[in-house]
Amino acid sequence: MQRETISRRKLIVSAMAVGLTAASPRALEAATSEVTPMKTAGVVENRDRRMRWWHEAKFGMFIHWGLYSVIGREEWIMEMEGIPVRQYELLANQFLPAPDAARQWARLARKAGQKYMVMTTKHHEGFCLFDSKLTDYCAPKSACKRDLVREFVDAARAEGLRIGFYYSLMDWHHPDGARCATDESARKRFVAYTHGVLRELMTNYGKIDILWYDVDWPLSAEQWESKAMNEMVFSLQPEIVVNNRNGLDGDFQTPEQKIESTTNNVAWESCMTLNESWGYSKGDQAWKSPEAVLRNLLECAKGGGNYLLNIGPEADGSIPLQSVSILESVGQWMQQNGDVIYGADKLANAPWHPYATYTAKGNTLYMCVFAWPGHTPAEQSLSFYRPPVVFAIGGLRTRVESIRLFKTKQVLPFTQDDIALRIGGLPAAAPNEPIVVLELLCAGKPTIDHEYVRTARVR
Ligand code: GLC
Repeated sequence: MQRETISRRKLIVSAMAVGLTAASPRALEAATSEVTPMKTAGVVENRDRRMRWWHEAKFGMFIHWGLYSVIGREEWIMEMEGIPVRQYELLANQFLPAPDAARQWARLARKAGQKYMVMTTKHHEGFCLFDSKLTDYCAPKSACKRDLVREFVDAARAEGLRIGFYYSLMDWHHPDGARCATDESARKRFVAYTHGVLRELMTNYGKIDILWYDVDWPLSAEQWESKAMNEMVFSLQPEIVVNNRNGLDGDFQTPEQKIESTTNNVAWESCMTLNESWGYSKGDQAWKSPEAVLRNLLECAKGGGNYLLNIGPEADGSIPLQSVSILESVGQWMQQNGDVIYGADKLANAPWHPYATYTAKGNTLYMCVFAWPGHTPAEQSLSFYRPPVVFAIGGLRTRVESIRLFKTKQVLPFTQDDIALRIGGLPAAAPNEPIVVLELLCAGKPTIDHEYVRTARVR
């Protein structure tokens, strides 16, 4: 972003009509993918209704859990180390989760402020955590003798959370999982199997809110018969929302490990790990701080997206202590400030700021300060920064009516002219919390336009 000297700017006390837009989005890169609507009858028309709770929710928990959790080297280990199938199967003998594992996850999710949970019902390894008539390679027919998907569903419901099923189309265990690409009868069998277990998942567990497909290797959408797949899913679960990883557009896009807003109206959800692995990885200590998690969540909310944040429990279902501690800190903040995220509107033009990020709801703009700037030596020579500790927003094109600290409701003095909003009454020392929210009540829907500053300012 261009930085210019602003010392000559004359500030007009109190509110003047201003407007806003955004400048070069930094963290939020706009994606312009062309999306064709899903063809399933009625499903596109009622998408707004089906997606309402999902847009409102903003924050979910992803859970990667399976036989790979026994090894503790994340979920691709079977392929990455080339473990023979017959050996890998033996892991099921050691996959003996504690009885209340799913309850622990669901409690943590609720405490963290997450509104839904998406669990791997079957990852690429092919082991089904649910009961199936179509395979013996599933938890109830293995040493643990339990339907772990049932336990997950019950746990999420008990905490009032929405329920999502992750399902990997790619399957490293099924005999037809690779040869389906070159052998038509294998393809038919494998597609029948895949549709069949999805039917079981959509039938046996009551109302399911999200179906989260993953990796469609090695077939095309046509070969997977994905259209019929979605039609079957919607006929069994008319209110469900589905993602775009079965080769069709689905209801929402799934940027992975990055935050990428869409410039069209297509819904999106960023999924991200808490360290760098999805499945439990003993050696991975690259944990994100609670502040980093919150900043990501705010970035998603600003861009109209959701944030699906992963935990990788150990084989017994226990959550790595670091994950618990990060999510608990996130939850403490969410308890006091979550309302600036739930139900937030997409802010046009992805405005950014060096020490804050934004969310917006109706006529209210939330300035979420993550790097408290305190005093600046520039206040000696620049009246712009006096009285001391002035925070400013350039290019806010909407008139501000009042400003207060979100948490304490303490009213803050401000001045606003055509180019800059200056906020005073702030302490020099950083408050003892990762992100402090200022609530700006505006005369209309807030708009920030960085380019307006560049072009309209007096030079
Ligand atoms: C990738 C990985 C997978 C993980 C998923 C989460 O597709 O293959 O292991 O489950 O991303 O989005």
